[in-house]
Amino acid sequence: MMKNETLSKFKELFGEDGDIRCYFSPGRVNLIGEHTDYNGGHVFPCALTLGTYGVARKRQDRTIRFFSQNFPKAGVIETSLDDLAYNKEAGWTNYPKGVAWAFSEKGQPIDSGFDLVINGNIPNGSGLSSSASLEVLMGIILNDLFEKDFSMIDLACIGQFSENNFNGMNCGIMDQFAVAMGKKDCAIFLDTSDLSYEYASVKLPDAKIVITNSKVKHSLVDSAYNQRRSECETALKELQSVVSIQGLGDLTEEEFEAHKDAIKDPIRQLRAKHAVYENQRTIKAVAALKSNDIETFGQLMNASHVSLRDDYEVSCEEIDVLVDLAWNVPGVIGSRITGGGFGGCTVSIVKNDSIDSFIETVGEGYKQQTGHEAEFYVVEIGDGASKLA
Ligand code: GLA
Repeated sequence: MMKNETLSKFKELFGEDGDIRCYFSPGRVNLIGEHTDYNGGHVFPCALTLGTYGVARKRQDRTIRFFSQNFPKAGVIETSLDDLAYNKEAGWTNYPKGVAWAFSEKGQPIDSGFDLVINGNIPNGSGLSSSASLEVLMGIILNDLFEKDFSMIDLACIGQFSENNFNGMNCGIMDQFAVAMGKKDCAIFLDTSDLSYEYASVKLPDAKIVITNSKVKHSLVDSAYNQRRSECETALKELQSVVSIQGLGDLTEEEFEAHKDAIKDPIRQLRAKHAVYENQRTIKAVAALKSNDIETFGQLMNASHVSLRDDYEVSCEEIDVLVDLAWNVPGVIGSRITGGGFGGCTVSIVKNDSIDSFIETVGEGYKQQTGHEAEFYVVEIGDGASKLA
């Protein structure tokens, strides 16, 4: 049990006394609605049962001590509440530090230090949101230890705020929201323009969600992400000169086609097209799922991949190999890249009796074509972050 391992490590490093508390925060996978969350569109992610465990205890002084079982060689990293500045050398601790900083930016500073041990099983660099998992974990820990009354949605927003303003990654709200608000066997249909949401069951009678990890992550991920985001912002401004909208998510496909010439650069037009069409695909996909039309859901996932590959250009060779292989396996309902892009994972919906052949065929083909060993996770959908008993 990872919780017990984490607790024992905490006691070994920091002693057994006082009020020691345990928490868990999941990773996430997005089923459809990619790069729509910073365009006022819809997303459809769910929380995984993979995630990050945290064991914490409040201190009386202003010292903060961190230890990660995933990076044991780094040892105990010590800092102070009076020194919450981003520091490249501080590695993973920049995420929890950013959240502590964000609590005070939001008017609720914490008044003493703490000891924290974390232990996660989200594969590194897989695009399954280990950073959002850690941010929301820190949020629920500080909220609980220091008796703040932020809601789970507040904590999701605080996680995003700290990632944007402390860690310099201009992400949308999807990951932190999914991690904070996840619900067993459900995906969250979230409208990022106003944070209204509803849960939809993704417990399928004869199919499962399978994540395939390409094990590659191309380093341009953060810079290209921020660049796509600013391309969309410019396209929005150009469109706003001809049509009254708040975000690209306000447009239907027809409205986009009628006004797209306002976007002067052809590449930028393709980026905006993706944001508009992907949002509409997400709305259609959730409607299809609700009426048990899983085939249509799968086709929309495939179309999402094509658009991310060709118009938004956030896929890469290795991921395209995985998706092409998946599309050719009988019993695969849909398959696409998931998350920010440039490597990471694909998400597929696969009929129960095809899962073994899926893993075999895609695994072997991928090895042959790229030399890499893919990893497969037949996923369980879990609850959002919480304190553990
Ligand atoms: C990353 C970001 C999210 C979202 C996705 C793409 O995971 O953190 O906010 O933009 O990429 O859909």
